[in-house]
Amino acid sequence: MKILYKVKDIKTAIAELKAQNKTIGFVPTMGALHKGHYALFQKAKQNVNVVVGSIFVNPTQFNNADDLRKYPRNIEQDIAFIQDVCDIVFCPTIDEIYPMPPTDIYDFGQIDKVMEGKYRQGHFNGVAQVLKRLFEITTPDKVFFGKKDYQQAVIVKKLINMYAFPIQLVLVDTVREDNGLAFSSRNMLLSEDKREKAAFIYKTMLEAKALKTELSPKEIEQWIVKQFLQQSFLQLEYASIVDAETLMPFTHFNETKKSVLCIAAYIDNVRLIDNLEL
Ligand code: PAJ
Repeated sequence: MKILYKVKDIKTAIAELKAQNKTIGFVPTMGALHKGHYALFQKAKQNVNVVVGSIFVNPTQFNNADDLRKYPRNIEQDIAFIQDVCDIVFCPTIDEIYPMPPTDIYDFGQIDKVMEGKYRQGHFNGVAQVLKRLFEITTPDKVFFGKKDYQQAVIVKKLINMYAFPIQLVLVDTVREDNGLAFSSRNMLLSEDKREKAAFIYKTMLEAKALKTELSPKEIEQWIVKQFLQQSFLQLEYASIVDAETLMPFTHFNETKKSVLCIAAYIDNVRLIDNLEL
């Protein structure tokens, strides 16, 4: 596996591969890699000739300085972890990605105003800033994203369409710990006991899904709020059942449209998100 730090080096490496007609798959990450990330790399390996990963903690997508400071960083371990599933890993500095402070502003309509967009102002603008740069640098044929960040995946789809990037978006199912907790870099900030308790999120989502036949989406959201109020370790930020494509509130379950339940909750000041397709 090659480790590259400079934009010009990765551009040269990719140009050489493209000249040999190799297909390029790209997996962007912020590091602190876990089995969820690994699944994206594995999927990429099955789909393209050359897998490019990036490890870059993008400051522009953090709306909270403390969250950015606390974000786990473990680059040497990360590189060893993806050794057999990644061909080139790009680890740029902030100056490499942003030689000038980025000023681009994106308007994704309603999809970046709800849920994460509402509670983390500017977050998706920062995600779009970094992904537009990374897509331009790596010019992939396919990009691999996790459904774990469902709203982000919808935004990436829109970003690709907005700029007519000739890129296919491949989504990968959420990988979970045995207790159901979705793997997340932020889990590393939690004690084992809290990781066990945080499995409540997935358990509640499964129970909520089972209520689909008796309750409306609104009633299920209210039921979830009650479940969270009956315990003390997790503080619910939102539980929203939305249209899987538009992310608008889902009024009633039906055969033709898919819905997704999205949850954000805090445990020990660590913010976790998860979702389940209903
Ligand atoms: P990060 O949180 O490192 O996630 C990188 C990719 O891994 C995302 O596509 C995310 O959805 C996926 N992922 C995370 N946990 C997962 C899990 N348990 N199962 C499956 N996939 C999982 O998302 C970001 O970084 C950043 O916003 C980024 C896109 C890199 C832009 O900075």
